[in-house]
Amino acid sequence: MEKIDWKNLKFGYIPTDYNVRCHYANGEWSDIEETRDEMIPIHMAASCLHYGQEAFEGLKAFRCPDGKVRIFRMEDNAKRLQSTCRALVMPEISTERFCEMAKRVVKLNAKFIPPYESGAALYLRPLLIGTTPDVGVKPAKEYSFIIFVTPVGPYFKGGFAANNYVIMRQYDRAAPLGTGRYKCAGNYAGSLLAGKIAHEAGYAGEFYLDAKEKKYIDECGAANFFGIKNNTYVTPNSLSILPSITNKSLQQIALDLGLKVEQREVPEEELATFEEAGACGTAAVISPINRIDDMERGLSYQISKDGKPGPICKKLYDTYRNIQYGIEPDRYGWVTVLDITE
Ligand code: PLP
Ligand code: COI
Repeated sequence: MEKIDWKNLKFGYIPTDYNVRCHYANGEWSDIEETRDEMIPIHMAASCLHYGQEAFEGLKAFRCPDGKVRIFRMEDNAKRLQSTCRALVMPEISTERFCEMAKRVVKLNAKFIPPYESGAALYLRPLLIGTTPDVGVKPAKEYSFIIFVTPVGPYFKGGFAANNYVIMRQYDRAAPLGTGRYKCAGNYAGSLLAGKIAHEAGYAGEFYLDAKEKKYIDECGAANFFGIKNNTYVTPNSLSILPSITNKSLQQIALDLGLKVEQREVPEEELATFEEAGACGTAAVISPINRIDDMERGLSYQISKDGKPGPICKKLYDTYRNIQYGIEPDRYGWVTVLDITE
């Protein structure tokens, strides 16, 4: 194993020793395989390559100050994958199988779990693909489910720092009754152009408004949005956004910290009233928001007063991280402790 510079890891791909797989054929899932092979043998007519039968997930495992390894909320990822499977007419992976594979792949790659002090984590990427060769538009009969892992650093270069975003009106990420609330590849392909334009203009990411009325905040890049005002955590309720496990957890932590929580439509104009705001997701936990520009309307919503993350974002972030690291009690059974001594 090449020496890894844990402190300077990017959110990218570094090979590890093993991945785990299983295959679906004739209506049932195979035994779980452990492999060192990073390649997937795939037929050129496989349905995932043409008609987008691909579902994925993202979760993290941490090496903690008490020496233990913890995986965060993996049952919730299993359940979200099941909902994506139902939407894309793919066979579901049971929560039991998902968790068994997640634990196994982390254990097999224990030496790639970054040390606590580095602030990095082991990212798990489960993916499910339809593999049946066909050119007709219909669900595949065969599937492969894989979980690989890779050590990752912060999603944003500056780590926990406030970033600028831009509202994109000329692009939608997903339609209200489309696949926006599922974690499938097509949603991301459809967001790359808007993301590219935003990044080239110097923004950390793009904001999507609801596709139907272009009035309400949907998502920011591949993350959910929340705003804080009057001791209240406000986050959009929309059929076209991914139900973020980080957002769900932050809502619970906000309640525990004595904030109110509102999940409802958030009109663009309301951005002017937030005292703090953030983008949230597994990769960054919270990426605090400094400013959001609406270029077409020539508007700028300055959220942070001093260009820095606000105190409530900081408190939410610290509490969240402390639960992941086993420093604060796991009151809701979010954490799975693995028996790894390495
Ligand atoms: N929204 C989108 C489109 C995402 O891809 C992600 C990342 O998974 C999120 C939100 C955040 O979800 P989670 O907190 O479950 O990682
Ligand atoms: C997240 O984990 O927050 C994401 O946005 C996932 C992304 C890397 C697809």
